[in-house]
Amino acid sequence: GFSWTLPDHPKLPKGKTVAVVVLDGWGEASEDQYNCIHVAETPTMDSLKKGAPEKWKLVKAHGTAVGLPSDDDMGNSEVGHNALGAGRIFAQGAKLVDTALASGKIFEGEGFTYIKECFDQGTLHLIGLLSDGGVHSRLDQLQLLLNGASANGAKKIRVHFLTDGRDVLDGTSVGFVETLENDLSQLRAKGVDACIASGGGRMYVTMDRYENDWDVVKRGWDAQVLGEASHKFQNAVEAVKTLRAETKTNDQYLPPFVIVDDSDKAVGPIVDGDAVVTFNFRADRMVMIAKALEYEDFDKFDRVRVPKIRYAGMLQYDGELKLPSHYLVSPPEIERTSGEYLVKNGIRTFACSETVKFGHVTFFWNGNRSGYFDETKEEYVEIPSDSGITFNVKPKMKALEIAEKARDAILSGKFDQVRVNLPNGDMVGHTGDIEATVVACKAADEAVKMILDAIEQVGGIYVVTADHGNAEDMVKRNKSGQPLLDKKGEIQILTSHTLQPVPVAIGGPGLHSGVRFRNDVQTPGLANVAATVMNLHGFEAPADYEPTLIEVVDQ
Ligand code: 3PG
Ligand code: CO
Repeated sequence: GFSWTLPDHPKLPKGKTVAVVVLDGWGEASEDQYNCIHVAETPTMDSLKKGAPEKWKLVKAHGTAVGLPSDDDMGNSEVGHNALGAGRIFAQGAKLVDTALASGKIFEGEGFTYIKECFDQGTLHLIGLLSDGGVHSRLDQLQLLLNGASANGAKKIRVHFLTDGRDVLDGTSVGFVETLENDLSQLRAKGVDACIASGGGRMYVTMDRYENDWDVVKRGWDAQVLGEASHKFQNAVEAVKTLRAETKTNDQYLPPFVIVDDSDKAVGPIVDGDAVVTFNFRADRMVMIAKALEYEDFDKFDRVRVPKIRYAGMLQYDGELKLPSHYLVSPPEIERTSGEYLVKNGIRTFACSETVKFGHVTFFWNGNRSGYFDETKEEYVEIPSDSGITFNVKPKMKALEIAEKARDAILSGKFDQVRVNLPNGDMVGHTGDIEATVVACKAADEAVKMILDAIEQVGGIYVVTADHGNAEDMVKRNKSGQPLLDKKGEIQILTSHTLQPVPVAIGGPGLHSGVRFRNDVQTPGLANVAATVMNLHGFEAPADYEPTLIEVVDQ
């Protein structure tokens, strides 16, 4: 029968302290002026790279290697950390929603049946990120949902969108809103009362994560539920264009607005008897709004009016909280993660990041599960992130503080695994500010050094890797890799992640001298890291895990 007990590794010892460092948004790309990692002073990572091919290698962090629908899909932190922690490749939310929409099963499931009850009397509200980024949501999925819902009886539909500019180029929101407007007018031609009701930028409205700033969610609530915002427009395309020009904000940070009718009345507040679907499949930035929509007891902000609605998520966003309780598509069942195995085999684990990435090294790492497996063996430390700023203003973020916590945890002797996420390359990379991203990369490199020094002191082992690319490429390129110029002859800043591979480096005084990277693993990817880490703790990985990246040669 099934057993949590991991077999002993035939050659590698137990009892070494292993530091697992995830550099968020740290890929490998050609070395030019738009590669902030290359431009930055990164002596620690440079020295690790010299260990290639035996102690440093590149692995895939995007596309099918991490469970995304196609190899055109860039990597992201959710799927990256899922793969790193779970050691296997699961069909991820994007893929599962595609499948459910293609077969039409989504419209027969429990979630849809539940919200459908409202279609006779109430309005169907759809809230989510409007782009084709494929990280949190996808426009084509929204389109299929709109058509399917109306075909299945929705008579009145209101869309509350969040503009992107983070997983896609800034400025593209206008085109996405135009497309949506066109789709909605086609529905109206079929007799469905369908229109846009509100909008706002994803980083300023609704899509906060890990409870960094509840004001973000409140601004969304006010516009979407209460129908209140200081900016009012009759047309959403005009709203986005005007707000971009007049408030000098980019797509990510557009202020909230509501669409009003001729008499200045909001066209789509959420009221008793309505149905609501949050159409993002990715969890982290939907958990907070899901709580606001679903929880009776809620004290994070004053909701003013709490409509009696039927609410469903595109997916269930937190498997442990069972949040939301209704959902259109079942999430991937990511069970038996490496974190759970290792804790059950006595590995005392410390995990740390700052707020904006805290859930990445805990929740995502553990298969979208919040909380401890065994609180006597684990400690998760969250360092509060700066809130209310864009991270190009403080590009060092909390890298130093995270490294200090990791150092102290390593030196304390109380932990076998010390795991951190260093957010700088990603969070600053997303702002599109190249100079600040260079500073960010340097700060992350210094943090790695502090952790490696502590590992040196205790005779431990380190594994340094990344979840996906970002800071290594800050410009949109043509097929041959040259920067793509826009109509004005200017480069287009790439705020998003990339398709680039990421490094895995191993070392430290505790590393058995015969350990080196194998060169016979077919298309190594992030999912191969979990078995590798298990080996370094002295265990064999479970048979169904993706193979380890290392071998032990006799000298
Ligand atoms: C975000 O949510 O910030 C971006 O869409 C993706 O970034 P992450 O996958 O690195 O968190
Ligand atoms: Co990112």
